[in-house]
Amino acid sequence: MSTHHRIILGSSQQMLELEDSSVHLMVTSPPYPMIKMWDTLFAKAEPKIETLWQELRAIGKEETIAAVYRAMHDYLHKTWQETYRVLVDGGMACINIGDATRTLNGKFRLFPNHARITEDCEKIGFTTLPYILWKKPTTKPKYKGKGVFLGSGFLPPNAYVTLDCEFILIFRKGNMRKFPPHDQQRYQSKFTKPQRDEWFSQIWSLKGSRQTIDTLERRTAAYPDEIPDRLIKMFSVKGDTVLDPFLGSGTTLRLAIKNERSSIGYETDQDIVPLLTRKVGEACSKDTTIIITERQ
Ligand SMILES: C[S@@+](CC[C@H](N)C(=O)[O-])C[C@H]1O[C@@H](n2cnc3c(N)ncnc32)[C@H](O)[C@@H]1O
Repeated sequence: MSTHHRIILGSSQQMLELEDSSVHLMVTSPPYPMIKMWDTLFAKAEPKIETLWQELRAIGKEETIAAVYRAMHDYLHKTWQETYRVLVDGGMACINIGDATRTLNGKFRLFPNHARITEDCEKIGFTTLPYILWKKPTTKPKYKGKGVFLGSGFLPPNAYVTLDCEFILIFRKGNMRKFPPHDQQRYQSKFTKPQRDEWFSQIWSLKGSRQTIDTLERRTAAYPDEIPDRLIKMFSVKGDTVLDPFLGSGTTLRLAIKNERSSIGYETDQDIVPLLTRKVGEACSKDTTIIITERQ
């Protein structure tokens, strides 16, 4: 089956290149709000966020922490809204997101990103479906925000639970997709019983992506192939179009190619392009076309 793939170097907050109701599935992992490694990206993309950080450092008001957090989610919200527009009726959206823990104003706290995104997507009109917990290899429990328990580590009540799971949130636009009886593409995309039993259970124990290649690859916080591979097979059929609005190193596109789906990805970081083209290129066969467009 021949498939078509597009990489658009520009922000997914406005997906001008995509028509309404033209995508069947979105699979993505955005930059995580309140995780330090993404602070610079959010601050550069939204000057308001940089101003709020400066205000927080200077005055330290609790309301400013809430405002920074809100502004980061407002940034992502625009992409969720555009995703809703471009999905077909019955199209699915899968978002891999981790919560964040952080000490601000001297207080250790949780930022429940999964809950905020769920609320935002509900407001947009998505229907929330049961989510998956991606259980990562366990790291050590935390005490006072540090990676180890100190002397009083066995004494209640001041230690914290470790965040060793990330979420894969699942939403649907509109009603369930309809297919003609015995639709060939749908039947050719069938999964097996062992696959169904494993994939449709709520906890997935998977290792994180191997992040050993270079600094650039580590910077994208790539998810393991297994995540988009399963989600594409679970929620789309061969020949469908899969969107990743936060493409990073291109893992979703690579797995869309391997699974005979067409795909579209958006990425704002020009420095990732060589890694992206290499990783996506590796998956191509003679029936694959890839177009890379730079937004003017
Ligand atoms: C967590 S990474 C994605 C990692 C990806 N799943 C992978 O396996 O490599 C998020 C990516 O979104 C990009 N990004 C941030 N804001 C964006 C926007 N508005 N439009 C498109 N890409 C954006 C970042 O540059 C970053 O590469």
